[in-house]
Amino acid sequence: MKSQILHKLRNEKGYLSGEELSNSLGVSRTAVWKHINELRKEGYIIESSSKKGYKLIALPDIVDGREIVIPEGQKIGKQIIHFEEIDSTSNYAKKIGNEGCRHGTVVVAEKQTLGRGRIGRPWQSGSNHGLWFSTVLRPELEPEQVQIVTLAASVAVIEGIARGEGINCGIKWPNDIILDNSKLAGILTELSAEPGHVNYLVVGIGININQDLKDFDPELQNKATSLKIHAGKKISRVRLLESILTSFEEIYNIMLEGNTGEIINRWNKYSVTIGKEVKIVYRDIEYIGTAKSIASDGKLVVRCKDGTEKEISAGEVQVRGLLGYV
Ligand code: BTN
Repeated sequence: MKSQILHKLRNEKGYLSGEELSNSLGVSRTAVWKHINELRKEGYIIESSSKKGYKLIALPDIVDGREIVIPEGQKIGKQIIHFEEIDSTSNYAKKIGNEGCRHGTVVVAEKQTLGRGRIGRPWQSGSNHGLWFSTVLRPELEPEQVQIVTLAASVAVIEGIARGEGINCGIKWPNDIILDNSKLAGILTELSAEPGHVNYLVVGIGININQDLKDFDPELQNKATSLKIHAGKKISRVRLLESILTSFEEIYNIMLEGNTGEIINRWNKYSVTIGKEVKIVYRDIEYIGTAKSIASDGKLVVRCKDGTEKEISAGEVQVRGLLGYV
């Protein structure tokens, strides 16, 4: 009933009287009033006038399926599962991936209690200031080829932010999203596969949106940023999520067409890694070199100081001049 009232208010530019609502939905005016109050508690701003009735003034910034508009035909985000709080959207996405959920299902939460980052690190996501979501993908790829999906996801985040907010970010290999020399967002790709076959991929994306600097843990304050810190104003998480999912669908289709060259070109365009001095840390081994290029399978090609070239597919890459590496 609440969602029917909401639907009617959304489709009405002016006021809807309590009587009109109660007659059309077959409930008492007191019941209408109760549902209106519940919607207000959820963050909907609804004006009421004893003569004219109710008018929807503003929507809450809740990232659930009721608020997110997905274009006709788009698969990524067609199904959205929303949680007020969850341990990790990627854990839940893996669960439903195993149960056979459809390609493009998005799990999104206002808060995570056990958000995970790359290389076993925690991901600070205990408040609804950011966008925390995971997408289940079922690409027809060999397990060795999935790195390209991670690159595609970082391109989608960059292009979604540029399209939605007009803010230009960069990518640090493989998928840290950088703004003003600080980390804005991260992507964690997890794979379920058998030899020669990908069952599904979970692409978990965390983006700092409306945090102030004081909202970050002290050890992150000189490394992390948010769109609000950059833009000096609050950003709508709902509109941004729509924009990123649409960019993701577009770049995913380019990948399905086999045009990995286009993904690598776009990734290179946004890269803050290529041409820079980098330090690679992998299983306690460290080496320094210059990031030369991205291979067609998404690996980072690094020319080492001794003149040899290495292709990096995992581990931590620090870029000199970025995120505290001087
Ligand atoms: C990184 O280390 O840079 C990757 C961070 C990925 C965080 C996101 S938030 C949504 C999803 N759920 C998680 O637990 N992690 C990812």
